[in-house]
Amino acid sequence: MRPPADAIGTLALIVGAIAFLIFVGVEGALVYAIWRYRASRHVEEAATFEQNRRLEIAWTAAPALILVVVFVLTLGAMAEINGAGVAPAMRIAAAGHQWWWEFSYGGTKTANELHIPIDTPIDLELASVDVIHSFWVPELGPKMDLLPRTTNRLRLFARRAGSYDGQCAEFCGVEHAWMRIRVVAQPQAEFDAWLAAQGSPAATQGGDGERVFLSNICVSCHTIRGTSAAGTAGPDLTHVAARATIGAGVLPNDVARMRSWLADPQRYKPGSLMPRVPLSDADLDTLSAYLGSLR
Ligand code: CUA
Repeated sequence: MRPPADAIGTLALIVGAIAFLIFVGVEGALVYAIWRYRASRHVEEAATFEQNRRLEIAWTAAPALILVVVFVLTLGAMAEINGAGVAPAMRIAAAGHQWWWEFSYGGTKTANELHIPIDTPIDLELASVDVIHSFWVPELGPKMDLLPRTTNRLRLFARRAGSYDGQCAEFCGVEHAWMRIRVVAQPQAEFDAWLAAQGSPAATQGGDGERVFLSNICVSCHTIRGTSAAGTAGPDLTHVAARATIGAGVLPNDVARMRSWLADPQRYKPGSLMPRVPLSDADLDTLSAYLGSLR
């Protein structure tokens, strides 16, 4: 199969070509009529028509035929976009939250950064835990809404390895703009290694940073597999350092920015559920270094 965006592109080209031909035909007829019946020619023949049945049938039938052709082509493109006839090689669950994305590969959860293997038909199973969101990565395919209590399906297929940027496309509250998506398409072996790493428990265990994390309210909302932290309201942080951004795109992810984020999340993402946790400077240092080690 080919990427759904290619099917949309082909359809747009065909419809554009039809529209161009109609434009040329109509404008050509107009220019011809202006020239043929211009005042300076003083033609005696009448420049009006009455009751030309064949012409009327033609200009009713031609647009109807064109619409039927476009309709049939559109049905074909829609079926292709939905992956008709091609079984998905993999299913990934995507949950929309105000304002971040959760991606589940079986029991392995990650956030905001969706990894997929290239040349592989993937079905995303989309649902929302709160309000309506919309998953949209323009280079890969169409938009699909995430609704509460319903699962929508979106076929993804990436031909080239690389990073594709997307965005929540349905207004979902004050931080709608900071609900970015990054899709990382990788060769199968690279993807398998990534998934195996994501599925493993936290890389570092038992240190000071972990103690700071576990003794504060972080644990009520976040999971770090391999520790006792098992909250589900916020993103799974088991491999948070492997992601490119903090807060669904609001900051690049490094230890210094993580420290700024932890010191005052509401400064960067006002309205988000992530509260400002009162921590000493030393605890902030330790905690950001710990999260930075969770690759
Ligand atoms: Cu989620 Cu806009």
